[in-house]
Amino acid sequence: MTRRILVTAALPYANGPIHIGHLVEYIQTDIWVRFQKLRGHRCLYICADDTHGTAIMIRARQEGRSEEELIADMREQHVNDFAKFDVEFDNYGSTHSDENRELCAQIWKSVTDAGLVVEKPVEQLYDPEAQTYLADRFVKGTCPNCKKPDQNGDHCENCLSNYTPKELIDPKSTLSGATPELREAPHRFIQLEQLHEFLHEWTQSGEHLQTEIANYLKGHFLGDELRDWDVTRPPAYFGFEVPDFPGNYWYVWFDAPIGYIASTQQWCKANGESLDDWWRSPDCEVHHFIGKDITYFHTLFWPGILKTAGLSLPEKVHIHGFLTVDGEKMSKSKGTFIQASTYADHLNPSYLRYFFASKLSAKVDDLDLNLDEFKAKVDSDLVGKVVNIASRCAKFVANDQLCPQDDLTVWGEQEGQPSIPLDGGIFDRNSMTQADAIARMYEECDYSGAMRRIMMLADEANRWVEEQAPWKLKHDRRQQIAVCTAGLNLFRQLVVFLAPVLPRLVEQTEKLLACKITSWDDAKVELYGTRVAKYEHMMKRVDPQQVEKMIEDTKEAQADDASSDAVDNPYNDGPEALAAEPMSGDECTFDDFMKVDMRVARVVAANHVEGADKLLQLTLSLGGDETRNVFAGIKSVYDPEQLVGRLVICCANLAPRKMRFGLSEGMVLASGPGGKDIFLLNPDDGAKPGMRVH
Ligand code: 2FM
Ligand code: ZN
Repeated sequence: MTRRILVTAALPYANGPIHIGHLVEYIQTDIWVRFQKLRGHRCLYICADDTHGTAIMIRARQEGRSEEELIADMREQHVNDFAKFDVEFDNYGSTHSDENRELCAQIWKSVTDAGLVVEKPVEQLYDPEAQTYLADRFVKGTCPNCKKPDQNGDHCENCLSNYTPKELIDPKSTLSGATPELREAPHRFIQLEQLHEFLHEWTQSGEHLQTEIANYLKGHFLGDELRDWDVTRPPAYFGFEVPDFPGNYWYVWFDAPIGYIASTQQWCKANGESLDDWWRSPDCEVHHFIGKDITYFHTLFWPGILKTAGLSLPEKVHIHGFLTVDGEKMSKSKGTFIQASTYADHLNPSYLRYFFASKLSAKVDDLDLNLDEFKAKVDSDLVGKVVNIASRCAKFVANDQLCPQDDLTVWGEQEGQPSIPLDGGIFDRNSMTQADAIARMYEECDYSGAMRRIMMLADEANRWVEEQAPWKLKHDRRQQIAVCTAGLNLFRQLVVFLAPVLPRLVEQTEKLLACKITSWDDAKVELYGTRVAKYEHMMKRVDPQQVEKMIEDTKEAQADDASSDAVDNPYNDGPEALAAEPMSGDECTFDDFMKVDMRVARVVAANHVEGADKLLQLTLSLGGDETRNVFAGIKSVYDPEQLVGRLVICCANLAPRKMRFGLSEGMVLASGPGGKDIFLLNPDDGAKPGMRVH
């Protein structure tokens, strides 16, 4: 049955170039789409630039041009980069389009009519000169804690304390240098909680999300009330004005996913099709491919919006992990923050497509580009196994013809000759079980499984060619051509299986063997009697010097990029912990904070508590005779014996609390979500019981 499938990859921001981390997703999606098209399904690959928001507005100002000019420029760069990697969209739109503006208005009306929208005041710093509200990263000042000047709006690099920009001493806007003012403005919010029941069911049904994602949502969001979502911004902002809230704009994350639909609409207009057939039809499957960092938006907010607006819900949201290079987060200073164009200046994009395919599974795990493994895999698999078959066989039939089918049959039936492994499916006479198994793996996004199986087949094919040794058959030209005919047919079957990953190899093969590869079933087709072109080199081994040059160029580009103020964080800390327990929006004043008297303390006794599953009873010494009796819920992780003698941090002035087991006179500080993940805080060496924690 022919399926109708609409596929999207996340819309890249229009304020920066495409790098190899982005490419994991666009290549993964492109492979899936090419596979579906090869299977004969109607499939569209839809994407667009994500163009709105403060960052783009500020950058345009800094560059002294309009946002429209900036995003047009970026779009051209993005489109060029994707083309270099054979990422082929059916439509590449922009969220700053008329189609998107109209769709946003329609969808906004639906959520408003459904009673999901409320207005609430929000306080934020405002730059009176630049005339814009300031995100935390656009404010600097003196740390309220250690008094070090020139610290970030929300975090001190010197003493590592976190605070709100309002607490900064002598705050300045980084946009204009002006002193920001605290201003209050009304915002509109979407009350996601009203959709809680639907979202619980949709996310937990087992069909639409990977299991680990469904569990993550259940454990971190769906157990509590879903928070209202702030979806408008006061001026100045680059975006679309909200029709019933003049002077205010939709927040970029409201209009970005609607951009998927707007881009589809552009395609529909150009192809005389109806948008409803793709976004409002039970006959169309919508598949989103995204990175794990934007899970929340695509698995809670977006399905909620689609449902409310009567649009198709995703059949599946496919979520992948991040790219690391040589085991570490991509780093500008190490030269591993590699832009797509820098890679393409030095290395063949097909290598990267194959390497990613060989690493990608249906799981959310991160994926590592180890540069030694990259070379080893490309050299051994693509050059040593696949292309090797063509280069060994094609030269004996170059500018000649493959043998007729009868020659193969006659020759194959001679007694004592190994049979030629053709006939429907590599090495598996009379069946296509290999092709079916590989297809299933592509369908399930288990590309690494598919690549492994294809390489096993390539190994077998090589062994067969090796046994037949066409290079030794000069004395029997007919047999030599028969062997090469079989070898080239095997090669062609492998190329069909690799076609979603390596479109360039498909083109080269089509040229070499004067054939077309347009369908998965082409793996069953055998070529006889057709003309073979002169063999031209298909793929070279990875040149290590080019890898080095790519890294050097990346480092240089970074050094030249004076405008780049991105912090190079090599620690690979994901956003999960913060997302699991979002920071309180409530302000804690300096005075509030100083009320909490935290002290270094030593555990001098620790005991189990009879009848309590989770608690340990601790006696903490603050030095001298000062002690506290504390009940701490840490039994699931710590044994009492382990604790005696160690230093901890405790809140020493917490009002005593009567518990079933006795009086608790304080609290021991620990982090983590609970269960087996509880981590006691301890001070560095040198701290003494009784010292205050500031
Ligand atoms: O995280 C990002 O890069 C966003 N620009 C993705 C948007 S995807 C979609 F929702 F538009
Ligand atoms: Zn500080």
